[in-house]
Amino acid sequence: MTQPSYEAATGAAYDRLAQRYSDFAAHHHTTHPLHRALIPAFADMADPARPLADLGCGPGHVSADLHTRGLRVLGLDVSARLLAHARRTHPGPVFVRASMRCLPLAPGALGGILAHYALIHTPPDQVAGTFTEWARVLAPGGPVLVSFQAQEPGTGTEPFDHDVAPAHRHSPEHLLGAAGDAGLSEAARLVVDGSQDRRRGWAQMHLLLQRPV
Ligand SMILES: C[S@@+](CC[C@H](N)C(=O)[O-])C[C@H]1O[C@@H](n2cnc3c(N)ncnc32)[C@H](O)[C@@H]1O
Repeated sequence: MTQPSYEAATGAAYDRLAQRYSDFAAHHHTTHPLHRALIPAFADMADPARPLADLGCGPGHVSADLHTRGLRVLGLDVSARLLAHARRTHPGPVFVRASMRCLPLAPGALGGILAHYALIHTPPDQVAGTFTEWARVLAPGGPVLVSFQAQEPGTGTEPFDHDVAPAHRHSPEHLLGAAGDAGLSEAARLVVDGSQDRRRGWAQMHLLLQRPV
């Protein structure tokens, strides 16, 4: 797999902390119902005849959640150790080492795309190209669910001190502008209030996009 350097660095950083991150992420998913509240709607909107992709799937718990809903799921990530953990822990989905920026998939192959706190590691100048790649592999009408630490509306994008790898927060307009340029439009959003984030007090956004039919 040929990778830009930011992806190689991100994968290596998650490799170093794979066990610790896997323990944290599975616990977070189980104990934070608001952060998974849009997943059932996303799964229901996806074309069941095509697989879904969980991009930046990490230890695979969200892929497994989608798989239990009767969907075919591909979990893709750049961290070999997180993928090894995912394969050991969750037998249902297929886990593959791949970049979300350059997907090994045919046009229109996917029924839906989910990226749960994974686009945050993409440098801001690469976000538009990443959405364009997602739109390429998504079937018409397919949903995209992207979750991220949100900036105040109208404030653009800012780096933050993520515990594992360089990351950015985005304002909703910032991501929606890039998504819109790729032909993806907003279908719904869920904002988890900053009061729910005991560590930093940041709002978290779950943005549901859709490729037009
Ligand atoms: C914060 S973790 C989230 C993992 C999982 N989605 C979750 O919710 O726990 C970010 C994940 O995205 C992966 N990632 C970051 N940039 C990526 C890229 N360009 N292509 C594929 N995976 C990427 C990382 O390796 C890591 O597993």
